[in-house]
Amino acid sequence: MKLSFLCCSLVMPVLSFTANFAVAHETQIVQKTKVVQEAEVIQEKGLKSVMQGLLKDTQALTEGIFLEDYKKIEAAAKNIANHPTPGTLTMRKVMAGLGAEMGVFKGFDMKVHDTALVIANSASEQNMSKIISGYHQMIDGCQSCHAQFKPRVSKIINPD
Ligand code: HEC
Repeated sequence: MKLSFLCCSLVMPVLSFTANFAVAHETQIVQKTKVVQEAEVIQEKGLKSVMQGLLKDTQALTEGIFLEDYKKIEAAAKNIANHPTPGTLTMRKVMAGLGAEMGVFKGFDMKVHDTALVIANSASEQNMSKIISGYHQMIDGCQSCHAQFKPRVSKIINPD
């Protein structure tokens, strides 16, 4: 009786320490795996979600124009100019699929980037007519790429 009590009081803490340690260790591994997975997901954003971000920023930009909110215009235009990349896996697929046409595709992206920067600079100068002419060119860049590439690139990324 006494012995078994002694035995338990000695063994139990050791057991529970080991168990706690194992659980803590496992939690750490699970957390680490989650972090790595999240990092990979962030890295591979995908083109669709980049585009949805561009739409949100373009909506904010439009709102800024009609409210004559130059800070809002500048922030939205900078977001558009510095939009995240869809990730290397997606870009590799698009490059392989478009081949020599990749330059034209990139050219539309550059047009959107450059005009968004013009808009941001014009907003800091509070120059509405320059903002509006940049806005037209930027939307033309979005729409031209969609007209020429959207269905095809959509298929390249998600072949069914
Ligand atoms: C270089 C080419 C290119 C440019 C520039 C471009 N897009 Fe796109 N966009 C695409 C492609 C390709 C898709 C289809 C993506 C897919 O289906 O995975 C797309 C899809 C979209 C979608 C649909 C997303 C959905 O949920 O289906 C929106 C919205 C969008 N673009 C907004 C914009 C806006 C706003 C701009 C300009 C600020 C812009 N795009 C500029 C190529 C472009």
